[in-house]
Amino acid sequence: MHNDKISLCWKWIFAGIIFTFLAGCTIYAVTDFTRDTAPLQGNQIIKKTYSKAPLSRRELGRLIELTVYNGKPEYYGDMVLDRQSKKHKCKPVIFSHRAHRQHFTCNVCHTQLEFSLSKGQTDITREDYLDGRYCGACHNGKVAFSTEFACDVCHRKVNPSKFNYPAYKETANLPTTKYGDQTDWVTAIEQGLIQPKTFLPEEYMLPSMPLPEHLQQPLNWTTAAPRIIVHFPHRKHMLWLDCSNCHPDLFSIKQTGTVAFDKESNLYGQFCGACHMTVAFPMNGCNRCHPHVKNYTGKKI
Ligand code: HEC
Ligand code: HEC
Ligand code: HEC
Ligand code: HEC
Ligand code: HEC
Ligand code: HEC
Repeated sequence: MHNDKISLCWKWIFAGIIFTFLAGCTIYAVTDFTRDTAPLQGNQIIKKTYSKAPLSRRELGRLIELTVYNGKPEYYGDMVLDRQSKKHKCKPVIFSHRAHRQHFTCNVCHTQLEFSLSKGQTDITREDYLDGRYCGACHNGKVAFSTEFACDVCHRKVNPSKFNYPAYKETANLPTTKYGDQTDWVTAIEQGLIQPKTFLPEEYMLPSMPLPEHLQQPLNWTTAAPRIIVHFPHRKHMLWLDCSNCHPDLFSIKQTGTVAFDKESNLYGQFCGACHMTVAFPMNGCNRCHPHVKNYTGKKI
């Protein structure tokens, strides 16, 4: 009888330990995304309302595991253009963002020269570029090498092992990050290590709209998951882009207009993911968009 009581008591203690352990795990699971760092820069936090519940930690972890970034650092940001070349049975064209963005801002190509911000959408013919459009605006022997020769500098196999990624070496001395193309382009431009041109010859120049006063400071807004804040600096984007690259196609200009965009669609390349999965630093650099979230190092979330 006495012994029974003792063993019951032990059972309770044991159950108590397990319960405390599980509760601890849950609290850890919910809070481990966050760590307290310096206070947020920018405007006060905008509170958004969400119709969907946040992704569970497991779902999010799985999505991030499954996410395919645009290739290894050497060719992160490379685009294979084969819309026309396939038809004409010639080798595809490999376009390197790294090679170009050190010399030109995004809006030179994506606003002034009308390249699409979506792969495979621009229809480029040889006639077009010989006529000075698209690649031909620069590859005319004046700004860059001419399309009259050097066919195989542009028309080549996709990431062949022998190709030594000249642009990767050219930019090796720029500040680095651990993800994407491994270059910290924001610091590179802010420290004047690169000075990409913001327009081509005068005739293309379109004055960009100035950034309204209240948007000089970064925007911060809430997400479906409590405690996760998104940090969005307009000013840093304006070093590269034009308003029209984002508004109105990707984001409504009315603050409340864009339905709260969910994480999943971002990871599938919509909204911020349109650039931050393909050309700009990708989604595993968590900390730059969520100042309180640790960067993703490949370990389980
Ligand atoms: C600056 C880069 C560049 C150079 C150099 C270049 N091309 Fe192209 N070429 C392109 C691009 C971009 C396309 C469109 C690719 C696509 O969408 O499939 C293209 C398409 C083509 C096409 C198919 C489309 C059409 O209108 O006929 C042919 C053929 C072609 N190039 C031949 C050549 C030849 C021959 C040379 C060398 C004398 C050459 N290219 C040099 C970039 C280049
Ligand atoms: C020298 C010209 C040039 C510059 C500069 C340039 N791009 Fe591009 N970009 C292209 C071309 C060409 C494509 C392919 C378009 C196509 O396939 O229709 C492309 C495609 C893209 C895509 C589509 C990717 C996809 O997978 O759908 C994105 C996003 C993009 N660029 C963002 C940027 C950003 C951000 C910058 C500045 C950091 C930039 N680009 C600078 C020429 C340029
Ligand atoms: C805004 C000007 C500009 C446009 C538009 C442009 N380029 Fe370039 N490109 C350059 C410059 C500048 C260089 C580097 C200098 C040089 O090699 O002559 C370069 C270099 C290159 C290189 C060699 C470097 C490397 O590592 O890949 C290739 C290939 C190339 N461009 C292809 C293209 C193709 C394809 C297009 C069109 C889809 C294009 N470029 C559009 C300016 C431009
Ligand atoms: C890289 C993409 C990007 C660029 C470039 C960009 N914006 Fe925005 N903008 C956003 C995002 C994201 C939001 C927030 C949208 C939301 O919450 O629905 C926003 C919000 C806004 C808002 C509403 C916010 C408020 O508080 O009033 C205005 C106005 C605005 N942008 C104007 C501009 C102007 C003007 C430019 C060019 C000078 C510009 N944007 C360039 C992405 C961009
Ligand atoms: C049209 C392309 C585009 C879109 C859309 C876009 N960005 Fe960016 N963003 C860039 C480029 C280009 C940079 C410069 C850094 C780089 O290329 O890696 C940048 C830089 C940033 C930085 C600066 C990091 C630093 O070092 O300070 C933050 C934060 C950021 N983006 C967040 C966002 C968020 C959040 C969204 C969506 C609401 C978004 N961006 C949408 C192109 C884009
Ligand atoms: C380029 C910017 C950017 C980067 C990098 C980024 N996120 Fe996000 N994240 C967003 C945006 C925008 C939202 C807002 C989506 C919404 O409104 O729910 C978001 C939402 C979230 C949410 C809350 C919403 C939900 O559905 O659960 C979590 C959690 C989150 N991100 C985690 C991460 C983690 C972990 C990483 C790194 C692996 C990361 N994010 C990297 C832009 C980014």
